[in-house]
Amino acid sequence: MKNVLVLYYTQSGQLEEIARTIAKPLLEDAEVSVTFCNIEMVKPFPFPWKKASFFDAFPESFLQIPSEIHAPSQYVLSKKYDLVILAYQVWYLSPSIPINSFLKSEFAKPLLENTPVVTVIGCRNMWALAQEKMKALLVATGAKLVGNIALVDRHINHVSVITIVEWMFTGKKEKFLGIFPRPGVSDKDIAESSKFGTVILNHLKADSFTSLQTELVANDAVEIRPFLIEMDKKANKMFKIWANIIVKKTTSRPAWLKGFNIYLLVAIWVMSPIVYILHLFTYPLKYASIKRGKSYYSGV
Ligand SMILES: Cc1cc2nc3c(=O)[nH]c(=O)nc-3n(C[C@H](O)[C@H](O)[C@H](O)COP(=O)(O)O)c2cc1C
Repeated sequence: MKNVLVLYYTQSGQLEEIARTIAKPLLEDAEVSVTFCNIEMVKPFPFPWKKASFFDAFPESFLQIPSEIHAPSQYVLSKKYDLVILAYQVWYLSPSIPINSFLKSEFAKPLLENTPVVTVIGCRNMWALAQEKMKALLVATGAKLVGNIALVDRHINHVSVITIVEWMFTGKKEKFLGIFPRPGVSDKDIAESSKFGTVILNHLKADSFTSLQTELVANDAVEIRPFLIEMDKKANKMFKIWANIIVKKTTSRPAWLKGFNIYLLVAIWVMSPIVYILHLFTYPLKYASIKRGKSYYSGV
């Protein structure tokens, strides 16, 4: 009998749906026991978000400052697992506060130490550098990262910005104004993600995860868009400055968060199109490093 733990946090339910779909082939196998664990915050984040709370989550998300979580049940904590599937969302280019809080809590090490972990990301589209931060968090718990699956909104970057904001602020995963595409990960991509569960199951039963990521990648588990990685790197540098200033503010914090809001609008709607044009022109010159980056970020 193999024991698998599926850990996740979700606000809209999207990440739970993804985690459960991926876990389906494991659930259907008589030799595998699957336990689900939803990470819960002592002070829950609102959903749908209000604009102020959405930006208020920025400094602590980016600086990876944990908050208190509820202890997972005794049932979850009492078992030793052969594999952990850790499903997380990206908040401000970093693993979300609930996931970061779990990984920095006293509960993470006993559950993850010396245990193979497959990370599953469900986000808008910018996850590459968040996964680098995830790698460091997993190393600190003694976990062994063996696979990564990233499900994203496949629409044009700026379209997904508009639709996700609408989704986060209304709580409705619907076509904005009836003309925009539905936000988030598509139903098709979610439904098809059970194929990753089948790949994981085969490796679990073979007691070897050595070639798991290669096989996941061959099944389109990750799609690397070089422009998004370039933006992710640039934005990380700027977010670091903003977050470190804002986190030290007390009474002037709301005003600084408004300033960050304006910066973000300018970065997305003015700077990013310019970076995109430059990216296209310099693409042939940077081809070799882009290729190296693609291979690196596809791996674990
Ligand atoms: C505060 C906040 C910040 C976010 N930042 C990012 C981000 O930097 N990159 C990204 O691809 N998605 C980002 N997202 C989208 C989430 O990763 C995720 O797709 C969405 O919140 C739905 O997840 P759920 O399962 O918790 O509902 C953000 C969402 C929130 C609420």
